[in-house]
Amino acid sequence: MDTKVWEINIEQLKHDETQDKLDEIKTALVYGEVVGIPTETVYGLAGDARNAEAIHKIFSAKGRPGDNPLIVHIHSLEQLDDFTVQRDSRVTALMNHFWPGPISFILPLKGSMLSGKTVAELSSVAVRMPSHPVGHAILEHVDFPLAAPSANLSGKPSPTDHKHVIDDLNGKVYGVVASDPATYGLESTVLDCTQYPYRIARPGSITKEELENVLEETVGKHEPGSEQPVSPGMKYKHYAPRQPLIVIEGGIRSKAHFKGYGTQKIGIIGPETVREYAPNEALFISLCSSEADYREAARNLYAALRKMDKSEADVIFIHGFSKNEDSEALMNRIYKATGDKIIKGEQE
Ligand code: TXA
Ligand code: MG
Repeated sequence: MDTKVWEINIEQLKHDETQDKLDEIKTALVYGEVVGIPTETVYGLAGDARNAEAIHKIFSAKGRPGDNPLIVHIHSLEQLDDFTVQRDSRVTALMNHFWPGPISFILPLKGSMLSGKTVAELSSVAVRMPSHPVGHAILEHVDFPLAAPSANLSGKPSPTDHKHVIDDLNGKVYGVVASDPATYGLESTVLDCTQYPYRIARPGSITKEELENVLEETVGKHEPGSEQPVSPGMKYKHYAPRQPLIVIEGGIRSKAHFKGYGTQKIGIIGPETVREYAPNEALFISLCSSEADYREAARNLYAALRKMDKSEADVIFIHGFSKNEDSEALMNRIYKATGDKIIKGEQE
């Protein structure tokens, strides 16, 4: 299959030059095809959440295990009434505050409008309203809910640019929308609202503190290593380049970390400030200018992992950022990508 590429950037959208392309995308989705679409977190692989055949195509293009449910994307709160039960006013308050934006809510599922495959036959559903103007315009134009996991091959880093989607899925999906890159660069925060108190099932750019400020109540967290993962997806290996990736906790502080690796080619990913410790300057990728710029690092992380994957590095080291509320999502994805290969550096 030749994958179609529609170019729709935010600027074109403003000038209303995109109607024909939006019509074509809608037709493809109505007919059960799947399409890579931009969102502000990462690119998604979208299909009609009501159509079992479309959902099957999403799982098979990604090579995703069928027990890992998809997030359903919408453009207006009214759409929720079609497939979720009446929600608590606290959830609506959170939606009004953070949507459109990088947070998904897990809610009890209602009725049989959505394909059972979309939610991996669970009795709950994760929903999100993205803010990327082009993703949002597509959702508005189709006006039915779109299931969309990240548009990468299962196990690879999520795509933050349409080129990453094409690298992974060219020939495997009907089409890809080439648009502006994702501004956040990490997947949405997932908040489980099926039980009280609400719990964060996956950390993301919207932090626990921000949620608590709006709720004026405590929000729980899914603790790593606990018996039952709240989000089925959290149990799978993720975001990994082909080479071993090792995180240096406390940060890269000298060249000494890399002794003992013989003739292996060493790739380094970290803030600009650690460039001087890279044994091989050509295999250094900068994530951000200062060590505390977690947002910039988050935006660049997946592209850096993809670039290293294609490089000649035999082993990759990544800077462990200092651990706090604002770096939590970033460090969560870094740990997942390393598969828990950790070097204890300086204590924080
Ligand atoms: O930012 C994002 O959330 C992106 C963009 C495209 O919206 N999507 C995304 O989807 O990251 P995906 O499929 O890569 O991750 C969805 C996560 C998985 O960990 C999955 O297990 C969890 O959400 N999830 C989905 N539905 C769930 C449910 N009903 N109960 C528990 N976890 C659920
Ligand atoms: Mg994913």
